[in-house]
Amino acid sequence: MVRHFLSVTDMNREESEALLDRAAALKAEWYAAGRGVHPGMPMQGRTLALVFEKPSLRTRVAFESGMTQLGGHPSYLSANDIDMGGRESVPDVARNLSRWVQVIAARVFKHSTVETLARYSSVPVINALCDVEHPCQALADMLTLREHFGRLQGLKLAYVGDGNNVCNSLLLLGATLGVNVAVGAPQDYLPDPEIVARAEVLAAESDATITVTTSPSEAVADAHAVYTDVWASMGQEHEAARRRPVFEPYRVDAALMAQANSSALAMHCLPAHRGEEMSAEVIDGPRSVIFDQAENRLHVQKALVLTLLGM
Ligand code: CP
Ligand code: NVA
Repeated sequence: MVRHFLSVTDMNREESEALLDRAAALKAEWYAAGRGVHPGMPMQGRTLALVFEKPSLRTRVAFESGMTQLGGHPSYLSANDIDMGGRESVPDVARNLSRWVQVIAARVFKHSTVETLARYSSVPVINALCDVEHPCQALADMLTLREHFGRLQGLKLAYVGDGNNVCNSLLLLGATLGVNVAVGAPQDYLPDPEIVARAEVLAAESDATITVTTSPSEAVADAHAVYTDVWASMGQEHEAARRRPVFEPYRVDAALMAQANSSALAMHCLPAHRGEEMSAEVIDGPRSVIFDQAENRLHVQKALVLTLLGM
């Protein structure tokens, strides 16, 4: 039975916690090795295919360097290289790659594309971002929160901004792990009610709460961390001018941070636009953990590849 990771909900609470434990262990091992190669190089002789329809810095380099550090090899395939769905059908891309590589990570426009890859692949497929979720990001964010607070259960994470892929994965994974997630978003950009309903079911099981509001102040009240993302995601660039005035009241700046817990962390998945969704003062300020989040992409993605391969 091949194990895929298309959504944070593909792992239950126990598995998600084990994955974070493993990421933390790999992080410690990597530092002990002088940030070099992991002892035993467990991925030696193995290849990860990176099928990317959209740009990436963090996701791509975290997977590529992670494979190098584990002794394996990444093969990066941009839209120009394989023109998935054009030059070759999505099922045929999956069938071919399965014959050569041990894992596939795919960054795609439509969630249905990662589902199709998974359906026709005989090796694990990882969702490296789609329109619905960004599960690798949420794992890194939970590891970052756990490192700073020593726990996840009972924390309040406020997400302020667009109810997008990053927001969805934070809602679902936070709810799985006992984090109270509050989303503050403009009326027309609230997260998908179906995702919110699923998060509420998970939150009931983990003794957490889900709050969805159009008030940024209500979302950040007593929060341990305040998170935001770009106002226009990849593929929505043409909407940027229309979105800007709608999102202005949702900027995470010093005034909004002052309404959260006095030691609240500032979080962003990056790339960030200083002065738009988050002020430069907050991004570069003492409570910002954004580059810890970025680093933790490396550790969780290594843990994920090993776990999905049953290693
Ligand atoms: N946060 C994140 O996924 O960054 P990239 O788009 O650069 O991979
Ligand atoms: N919501 C953003 C996240 C980028 C990492 C996007 O989809 O472009």
